[in-house]
Amino acid sequence: MAERTFVMIKPDAVRRGLIGEIISRFEKKGFRIIALKMIKMTTEQAEELYSPHKDKPFFRSLVEFATSGPVVVMVLEGNNAIDVVRLMIGSTDARKAAPGTIRGDYGLDIQENVIHASDSNDSYEREYKIFFTQEELLH
Ligand code: PPS
Repeated sequence: MAERTFVMIKPDAVRRGLIGEIISRFEKKGFRIIALKMIKMTTEQAEELYSPHKDKPFFRSLVEFATSGPVVVMVLEGNNAIDVVRLMIGSTDARKAAPGTIRGDYGLDIQENVIHASDSNDSYEREYKIFFTQEELLH
């Protein structure tokens, strides 16, 4: 079933020149890019993105990292996009992520873990609206 998900290439991956490599994996897999832009997110946007973790000890650090440099945000569409993209990106802790996944191949940290993707349809609905208007999504 065609489904959409929100993906963010994090500041560590942008700094390391991995934008093309990461987008290429999603294109080759067969996902359609519905929206895409590079931004320097505001503290308010980062706090909203990570609001489910606002009581965690790492929340402040996560917000500071997310705003430390440009990120690439996008909406992808394809069959079972949410689950398939989560499989492609691998475990949150990049040290434990399986080789062949994006975090497993390019990351070595739990915070600077290269990429973020929605973990459910509710997360997708909340997350994409932080960065895109309805009009910016191509149909
Ligand atoms: S948790 O604890 O299971 O709710 O966390 P998780 O859903 O796996 O991760 C949510 C995001 O929090 C970041 N994270 C951390 N940052 C810093 N320090 C620690 N210990 C830490 N644990 C988790 C992690 O990078 C996740 O960011 P996203 O953007 O969702 O990948």
